[in-house]
Amino acid sequence: MTVNAELVPRIFAMTNQVGGSGKSTSAVNLGVQLADFGYKVLVVDADDQKDASVALGYEYPIEGQKTIFDCLEQKDVKLAEAIVPALCGPYGGADTKAIENLYLVLGSGDMENAEQMLTTRMGREMWLKNLLEPVKGEYDVIIIDCPGSLGLVVIGALVASDEVIACIKPGYKELRGLTRIEGKIETVNEHFSALGAHAQLTGVLLVDVPTHRSQGAVWDDGKKLAKQAYGDLVLPSVRRSTKIPESYAHQKALLFFDRAGEATADYLAIAKSMGFKRRSKVR
Ligand SMILES: Nc1ncnc2c1ncn2[C@@H]1O[C@H](COP(=O)(O)OP(=O)(O)OP(=O)(O)O)[C@@H](O)[C@H]1O
Ligand SMILES: [Mg+2]
Repeated sequence: MTVNAELVPRIFAMTNQVGGSGKSTSAVNLGVQLADFGYKVLVVDADDQKDASVALGYEYPIEGQKTIFDCLEQKDVKLAEAIVPALCGPYGGADTKAIENLYLVLGSGDMENAEQMLTTRMGREMWLKNLLEPVKGEYDVIIIDCPGSLGLVVIGALVASDEVIACIKPGYKELRGLTRIEGKIETVNEHFSALGAHAQLTGVLLVDVPTHRSQGAVWDDGKKLAKQAYGDLVLPSVRRSTKIPESYAHQKALLFFDRAGEATADYLAIAKSMGFKRRSKVR
């Protein structure tokens, strides 16, 4: 995969119109890994399920705290007001700590109304690009966790992004579904290039990959098929691990929940293969 070191920040959209394909898990754990490398990272939770927010400590609404939905709904609310420090542990927990270098645009269940709200809005495809514009210079990396659809919320994420990482569980049907994402990226770029749309599919990320034949015959067939179709775009896979749902339930990212674990090592390998390196402390 090619890396353009000139692009600062690198803005990624984690997408797949199919639900449950590892987008939120990957947005969070890749974000944590990059923050650990020393990059200043912003995870944008654009999904009404709020999984990225929950995983980073924020399960319940906080009185007076703005969310991504407030920014979308109200012109005078700036994205900066919806940015919170990412947490290791639940918000308010006695042992909960802020994760160094990692920030979150807080998600909201109200985002379920976003599609409808955007439908009638002028410049609707620019919603996220416009919101990010004033803050993006403060970050090295921005990772957008998209909902599992290809609607206006996701189109806005594609317009705002440089790179798209398609997350999939391995399988023939799932791989075929990638052509829809590719088609959408192409259409978005065709229609909105004048507005700066230029996202490229730069990674295909296989998650929840069984590690034994007994877990399913697809284990390396899926990887082989992906390699045949997408070659170098295929990133190192994330192996199936019970630590992933467990870490989500504890609201602690893998790096803190299972530092020496396989899935943790997989996200490290992914970060490296995307061209990121550990930065020295003194910048
Ligand atoms: N490597 C893995 N091993 C085991 N379980 C995994 C793995 N990756 C993801 N999962 C589980 O699969 C489920 C879906 O993952 P995730 O929420 O990241 O997908 P998603 O694409 O964000 O879903 P949605 O479209 O609903 O937002 C979760 O329960 C998660 O814990
Ligand atoms: Mg998700």
